[in-house]
Amino acid sequence: MLRVMQDTAKRHLYQGKSIGFVPTMGALHEGHLSLVKRARSECDIVVVSIFVNPLQFGQGEDFERYPRDSEGDREKLLRARADILFAPDAAAQYPESFSTHVTVSALSERLCGAFRPGHFSGVTTVVCKLFHIVRPVSAYFGQKDYQQTVIIKRMVEDLNMGVEVVVVPTVREPDGLALSSRNAYLSPAERKAAPVLYRTLLAASQEVKAQAAPPVEIKARMHAALLQESLISEVQYAGVYDPATLEEATEFGKRTLLALAVKMGSTRLIDNLLVDR
Ligand code: PAF
Repeated sequence: MLRVMQDTAKRHLYQGKSIGFVPTMGALHEGHLSLVKRARSECDIVVVSIFVNPLQFGQGEDFERYPRDSEGDREKLLRARADILFAPDAAAQYPESFSTHVTVSALSERLCGAFRPGHFSGVTTVVCKLFHIVRPVSAYFGQKDYQQTVIIKRMVEDLNMGVEVVVVPTVREPDGLALSSRNAYLSPAERKAAPVLYRTLLAASQEVKAQAAPPVEIKARMHAALLQESLISEVQYAGVYDPATLEEATEFGKRTLLALAVKMGSTRLIDNLLVDR
């Protein structure tokens, strides 16, 4: 399967066709489909990969129970007019002899990286492999995983991969909850409470725009707002960050990143907003 995909990509490249690539872990929702739509509008051939990458899940995380829906995904991709679905298996991606990892230092240790050691190394390793197999001119990622996009851009630049990384806005439910395959884990009560994440980001974005308080105070208010929701069992991080370095901001730049990660029961939810002055 890897070889077939590689040969197909080469054939398209020789024919002068541009390949747009949407890497996913499946359980596709409108967020993923917005990436496919954007790729469809910009590239000749659209390749979507579905691979639940064991390397990016830590011990005790949800690799086993991560939602899988290959039939449903296939139908959605047909409707979205993707050209190629690439769904390699883990044994082909990671044979026993596999021993190469790609790690983007510093950026991978901040925010989510502090709570999910090794996660981003798993992401960059698989994305690097997928880029080599699929040979895209552009690859499409959702802003919902903002840190992932910053890390992948760094990898692409540092390793001269020559892939344009296109970041597509987060798709939200009508009540503001960012679409995520993991929303399926939420109980009805948790689902009802989950829009508090977006409300907290929106309130903080008003304060950033008005520069109503220093970042450290906005951070404190974000924590307080989240912790008022009794179904949030842990705020892993919430605050005001530099969008390039992902470090906590001490003052406001032209662009500010507001980001947060919380646990609701056993479900980890993340969200973010970029605020321009
Ligand atoms: O964002 C995801 O779904 C994954 O991290 C990715 C980019 C497909 C790599 O496994």
